[in-house]
Amino acid sequence: MNHPFDKNIAQVLFTKEQLQKRIAELGQQISQDYGQEEIVVICVLKGAVPFCADLVRHITCPMAIDFMAASTYGGTSASSGVVRFQKDIEEDVYGRHVLFVEDIIDSGLTLRYLTDHIRLRHPKSLKICCLMDKAVKRKTDLHPDYVGFDLGDHFIVGYGFDYEESYRNMDYIGVLKPEAITS
Ligand code: IMP
Ligand code: MG
Repeated sequence: MNHPFDKNIAQVLFTKEQLQKRIAELGQQISQDYGQEEIVVICVLKGAVPFCADLVRHITCPMAIDFMAASTYGGTSASSGVVRFQKDIEEDVYGRHVLFVEDIIDSGLTLRYLTDHIRLRHPKSLKICCLMDKAVKRKTDLHPDYVGFDLGDHFIVGYGFDYEESYRNMDYIGVLKPEAITS
């Protein structure tokens, strides 16, 4: 650990090395599955940015990269369930393979909303890759095709995951000490 925020971390759940090893495996799997077919990677802002940046460098098929954003109203650690659309992609995905790259699927409501939008534009295929899966928290029918790690019901920070917009720049993932949680 080497980050000023380290003092707020109660427990390290995934080290930098564990994350990078698993992301390389995911990239190899995705590369094998698509071969030399072109894909459109949709990185879901903001949490998936570090993950997506590392993942795409392990994928060998041709690709375009685009960004989409949504948020749940009023939610920090608990999802309220009301999704607000914030940013659309610029690519035309009609007839193309789409791969969503997301940091975590919790209730699944955010990604359900975004993938429903994209399906209306008739992509050739649509798959989901998430770094973390909180399957026990799911409130909608959403099944990722590629999962980095299965997570129980922990609230995590680091490597894209934030608590009130902080901690995204850590290179590992941990849980906060109770005294670091202010609301
Ligand atoms: P969902 O719509 O409930 O699946 O919400 C997913 C979003 O909630 C993620 O993209 C994250 O932004 C956020 N989120 C869920 N769990 C965590 C967590 O443990 N730490 C930080 N953010 C989280
Ligand atoms: Mg997010």
